[in-house]
Amino acid sequence: MHDTYFQDQVAVVTGAGGTLCSVIARDLAERGARVVLVGRTLAKLQTVADAITAAGGVCRTAACDVTDEPGLKQLSDELLDNWGPCRFLVNGAGGNNIKAMTTLTAFEASELGDERPAGQVGFFDLDMGMFEQVLKINTLGTVIPSRVFGRQMAVAGGGSIVNFASMNSYCPLTRVPAYAMGKAAVVSLTEWLAAYLASANIRVNAVAPGFFVNARSVQYLGSLQAGLTPRGRQVIDHTPMGRFGEAKDLLGCVAWLLDDRASAFVTGATIPVDGGFLTRSGV
Ligand SMILES: NC(=O)c1ccc[n+]([C@@H]2O[C@H](COP(=O)([O-])OP(=O)(O)OC[C@H]3O[C@@H](n4cnc5c(N)ncnc54)[C@H](OP(=O)(O)O)[C@@H]3O)[C@@H](O)[C@H]2O)c1
Repeated sequence: MHDTYFQDQVAVVTGAGGTLCSVIARDLAERGARVVLVGRTLAKLQTVADAITAAGGVCRTAACDVTDEPGLKQLSDELLDNWGPCRFLVNGAGGNNIKAMTTLTAFEASELGDERPAGQVGFFDLDMGMFEQVLKINTLGTVIPSRVFGRQMAVAGGGSIVNFASMNSYCPLTRVPAYAMGKAAVVSLTEWLAAYLASANIRVNAVAPGFFVNARSVQYLGSLQAGLTPRGRQVIDHTPMGRFGEAKDLLGCVAWLLDDRASAFVTGATIPVDGGFLTRSGV
């Protein structure tokens, strides 16, 4: 028999034009949800929307920045009028920026001198504007949609939110201070909101993907097919399953966390989906 749990329910997916959440959005549409695809670039969202529509699913695009609270509020009002309240929220928008990364993995005295090796970026050189942007998208970019759509859930009597953490949430990787800080904050927020919203019948959990190749990370990890960078090799050597994740590896976990029948007593949890990365200390 066809499972109707997600049928016609409104599922908002942020970062829906991206590598991971485009696949999650398609999966929720296949399960019958009416999916709202949120991201800043309409063209990316439209490609996903076309695939969903071609497969018989129902969706709409919403070109919006997840840190723009008035913009999201307008979207949520429109949705309420046309489709009803949001029941499921996947906070997938996030990510890093190469300009908020160091090239050094540890302090070197050359960082202090005038004669710098070309291309070297240490902690003391970081562009603070970019640092702030990376922090903002990964932290406020999760807080703000949770406020806007969480309010709708509270009025409607409940819902479920899934945030996106990272391996950096547990222990910061080298070179990515802003991203690591932001993703550690996502775990804290997930726990805080879970405790706060339990009385509104809203569960809040997170997934922590291991290393999944996307358009940006391929530049500094490489791929198993085309060749790994030294950092990519380190990642694979620390991943007992010996490969990068594929977006479809997340689907079961996300659907489980959204589904009250399957995970009714789970809230405030962050679930690693990492091929075992966290189990290996590297020693
Ligand atoms: N890939 C991995 O290995 C990995 C590992 C751990 C965690 N994660 C997390 O998983 C989530 C999805 O990652 P991904 O690999 O699918 O990344 P991705 O391909 O870069 O997708 C992220 C999407 O977020 C959107 N976005 C970024 N800033 C936004 C903003 N301010 N407002 C609205 N949308 C915004 C981007 O679209 P626009 O630029 O068009 O807005 C992009 O499509 C992210 O939170 C990421 O940090 C990924």
